[in-house]
Amino acid sequence: MIKISGFKISKHHSSNRIVNIQIEDKTLEKLSEKFSRFDLTAIEYKPFTRFTVAKYLDDLTNNELSKYLNDILRDRKTGCFIIGPEKITNKTDDIFLVKLSTAITHLIGTPNHDSMAGKFYARFFVKHEDKSDSYLRKAYINLDLHTDGTYVKDVTDWLMMTKIEEKNVKGGESVMLHLDDWESCDELFNDPVGRENFIWSSPKSKNVDYKVEHPVFFKDNNGLPQISYIDQFPEPKNMNQGLFLQKLSDSLESSKKKIITKLPVGSAIVANNYFWLHGRKRFMENVNLSRELLRIRGKFFI
Ligand SMILES: [Fe+2]
Repeated sequence: MIKISGFKISKHHSSNRIVNIQIEDKTLEKLSEKFSRFDLTAIEYKPFTRFTVAKYLDDLTNNELSKYLNDILRDRKTGCFIIGPEKITNKTDDIFLVKLSTAITHLIGTPNHDSMAGKFYARFFVKHEDKSDSYLRKAYINLDLHTDGTYVKDVTDWLMMTKIEEKNVKGGESVMLHLDDWESCDELFNDPVGRENFIWSSPKSKNVDYKVEHPVFFKDNNGLPQISYIDQFPEPKNMNQGLFLQKLSDSLESSKKKIITKLPVGSAIVANNYFWLHGRKRFMENVNLSRELLRIRGKFFI
């Protein structure tokens, strides 16, 4: 593995495809000092400030980190990393984690506007009770494997999910699946129905007032499979499309190659959104359950 001073880098214990990056205390302290120049309002209102915090992070590594993170995400064999503080301290609070997540993503690309939150990132809770209209915040139902950005016009090359905080949580593990590990990839990628245009829409809470059309599967520059799929939002036009989606969903959920891992508080999963699917297992019931997440999705610089 590559060595970057101030970081501990290894293969993640759950998969050879996932790189684990721990940020050492001394690095966190330097970052915290640098980040304190800006409050969250500046980060939210002034897009250039987001690049300044990203540069603070990269400067600590002689600009090695940005190159490494981009290499991981573009490499078909990996395409995913988990990054976070080695230790949680009073310095690594929620404000710091928003700034850190901003810094990391701005070394990779430009974030898309998150319509649900009305800014470039979204913070949201999963709790015992939920009255929302999508699976995202339903604690006691699996959030099935999917990719992000399926129902928007924005290009969504990558996504980041940061766990800001959690209390009284059992279950709710992260679930990841790489297309090249999935047993039925060839069969479904080669099914002509998967290359037809599907209509994708979304419920009210997403604040997206249009529908988009695209296939489930498409090829990358090397002819390898890529996917854009989520179970809740396609509107099958006929029986063939309906049955194809059911087969796809059943096959993804029954895959033995799913990676199931508990993301530490303060850490983020960042993944290529074309060949990694992500989801979440259901939580164990607890009336005081609370998990806060942050998400950012976006496109690569080039
Ligand atoms: Fe997602």
